[in-house]
Amino acid sequence: MRRSVLGSIALIGAVALTAVGCASGGGGAGAGGDGGGGELVTVGFAQTGSESGWRSANTESMQEAFSEENGFELIFNAADNDPAAQISAVRDFISRGVEAIVIAPIVEDGWDDVLQEASDAGIPVILEDRTVSAPEDLYASWVGLDFKKEGVMAGEWAAEEFGDTPTKMVVLEGTTGSAPANDRAEGFAEAIEGTAIETIDSQTGDFTRDGGKTVMEGFLQKYGVDGIDLLYAHNDDMALGAIEAIEAAGGVPGEDIKIVSIDAVKDGMQALVDGKINFIVECNPLLGELAAGLVTDVLAGETVEKTYYVEDQTFTQEQAAAVIDSRPY
Ligand code: AHR
Repeated sequence: MRRSVLGSIALIGAVALTAVGCASGGGGAGAGGDGGGGELVTVGFAQTGSESGWRSANTESMQEAFSEENGFELIFNAADNDPAAQISAVRDFISRGVEAIVIAPIVEDGWDDVLQEASDAGIPVILEDRTVSAPEDLYASWVGLDFKKEGVMAGEWAAEEFGDTPTKMVVLEGTTGSAPANDRAEGFAEAIEGTAIETIDSQTGDFTRDGGKTVMEGFLQKYGVDGIDLLYAHNDDMALGAIEAIEAAGGVPGEDIKIVSIDAVKDGMQALVDGKINFIVECNPLLGELAAGLVTDVLAGETVEKTYYVEDQTFTQEQAAAVIDSRPY
């Protein structure tokens, strides 16, 4: 059974969603495709890769929502974090004549040409998770998280925690050129403005655990455990890699070096409960039902908003301990 985007919102339940733009929000039941008993709707999904626990949860959510049972035939591609490979995958979807394309764009720039090609071929594109810098009329809709707000919430915690105390901070950035890396950096910087927090180093760990570990090892060699007070990691996986590096260097993560990160995946939440991470801002990966609802509505010719934000929350150690067992990812 195919569902509209509004039906999807109800199904997700715990996920709060905000549409930005003029209200209409999709609506009717199953649009296009099998209509309850015919052919499947062919959808190409260009995923970033498999860089993190968040990404695994997002892929699972997408594959569940775009199932045959729901009336879809999903052609899945994971580009291993390579922007050129992801654009090639989208071109392949176009040449195969899929009915709709969903993209989680690795980076923001470089999409104009291929989105224009999809538009020329009459294939609607839905973006999920990350945003692009291309003109809005080249895609039908986007659903995801407010990455800048996530950065602000992480920064507000740091500002509250350290305030006027001189604080040496290192940053593990996400993939260079990606929307979450850009926006989380901007939001955090705004929130700590006027505090005594000083960024002494900032490098990309590419959103991976190995990347976070390697870059943190470099920071620790350069500054020592005693020379770093705070780590801001753009995702939990990099924070988890950094925790390994801090422990190997004889430090106590969460005490010698305070850690704030983003995602709230299971392993990150466990590290928060264990006191190795001090604060986490959520980034909800369960976008599949919403993306499938948008595809359905767009193919049915219904009006959808250009932008749908899913609300995130934040977790202290106590809050994480209270919910960790009931969270689905
Ligand atoms: O785009 C969302 C980000 O991508 C998540 O925070 C990160 O874990 C993932 O790799």
